[in-house]
Amino acid sequence: MTADGIDGLERFDSPGKGRGLRVNRAYRVGELLFVCPAYSHVLSVSERGYTCEHCFARKEGLSKCGKCKKAFYCNVECQRGDWAMHKLECSAMCSFGESWCPSETVRLAARVITRMKVQKEKSASEKLLLLSDLEANLDKLDNEKREMNEADIAELHHFYSKHLDFPDHQALLTLFAQVHCNGFTVEDEELSHIGSAVFPDVALMNHSCCPNVIVTYRGTSAEVRAVKDISPGEEIYTSYIDLLYPTEDRMERLRDSYYFTCDCKECKTKSKDKVKLKLRKVNELLELCELSMEKMGSIFEDSNVYMLHMMYQAMGVCMYMEDYDGAVSYGEKVIKPFRQLYPAYSLNVASMYLKLGRLYMALDRSAAGSTALKKALAIMEVVHGKDHVYVKELQKEISAHQK
Ligand SMILES: C[S@@+](CC[C@H](N)C(=O)[O-])C[C@H]1O[C@@H](n2cnc3c(N)ncnc32)[C@H](O)[C@@H]1O
Ligand SMILES: [Zn+2]
Ligand SMILES: [Zn+2]
Ligand SMILES: [Zn+2]
Repeated sequence: MTADGIDGLERFDSPGKGRGLRVNRAYRVGELLFVCPAYSHVLSVSERGYTCEHCFARKEGLSKCGKCKKAFYCNVECQRGDWAMHKLECSAMCSFGESWCPSETVRLAARVITRMKVQKEKSASEKLLLLSDLEANLDKLDNEKREMNEADIAELHHFYSKHLDFPDHQALLTLFAQVHCNGFTVEDEELSHIGSAVFPDVALMNHSCCPNVIVTYRGTSAEVRAVKDISPGEEIYTSYIDLLYPTEDRMERLRDSYYFTCDCKECKTKSKDKVKLKLRKVNELLELCELSMEKMGSIFEDSNVYMLHMMYQAMGVCMYMEDYDGAVSYGEKVIKPFRQLYPAYSLNVASMYLKLGRLYMALDRSAAGSTALKKALAIMEVVHGKDHVYVKELQKEISAHQK
């Protein structure tokens, strides 16, 4: 180990992309490049009671904070460990009651500010890039973005005035711009949202729509694994966005949130756009707004990504309504095009197999269930690593059904 930096990796100036990260040795598919503990993290309000606020372990029997009764922990150690952060919200949640509703971004920013006050030395999350040096793209913000940042700052003052020593206004504007451009959402194995976090070293990676690494989470740490073989000297790219959508949509999303135009191979060749946008009868497209799902189906190929998006949503609705047969039928329609349209190793594909597999099992279709779960497992062993809890739990799940 070197005192500074991360073995095998090096920060460099990537032409046209600002700073970037590259490897100085070869990496194979599935290999771990690095782990980065969160500099700051925050649990989603919707996860309260299911997941520990401090270590993000999801389990039953968590104990709650005696004061606010809203934060839940594995044990006293987790509760103590979290107090410096939880105290920002504990009494405020009591006094605001129902009207306590800061956004997750604001909650995360409050935690970052708090940590910055005490973190005087370089943290284990900043081996290659300091939190204060995160790209803010301040010169690229338009009025709308500026107003959003001002609204965030107002919210921060409103909900956190009691326990927070606020930096000056300009510093706050920079911080929110940095969080927007470098923040991560933490998701579980089915891609359900758990929380938000800042991982400075991970934020050094630039974007590509044909990424060679994937970021997954273990507790509150981010892990970066190769999903392609990477040669010495190559830049590491992750994807910032959902890769299902056609080039124009991806471009717009990247410009709007990250202020750049992607020049990756897929953006240049648009090789998958044609399938992604396949229509049956183009001229009927205009009537789309009034169409039901059934009629949509007569216009769009099942591989049309907007059709896929609808079916994915419909699957979620069925789950919510506990209509598992309905959910399965949408899942089955989605999975094949997902495999075709997403890269070979994709969290979206893995999570879809996982959901489908679990649905089959719930419906006593164990052969189909086992096949789907094994497909999820094969991807997850690469992207999450064979020793990840999600992988171990899934292995147990599969063998339990085989008995
Ligand atoms: C999370 S940061 C990545 C690290 C950044 N290059 C830096 O110097 O800190 C995201 C920003 O990096 C730049 N970026 C990322 N991917 C890029 C790409 N493919 N082409 C051009 N700029 C890119 C954009 O400015 C974007 O807002
Ligand atoms: Zn815990
Ligand atoms: Zn509390
Ligand atoms: Zn691209």
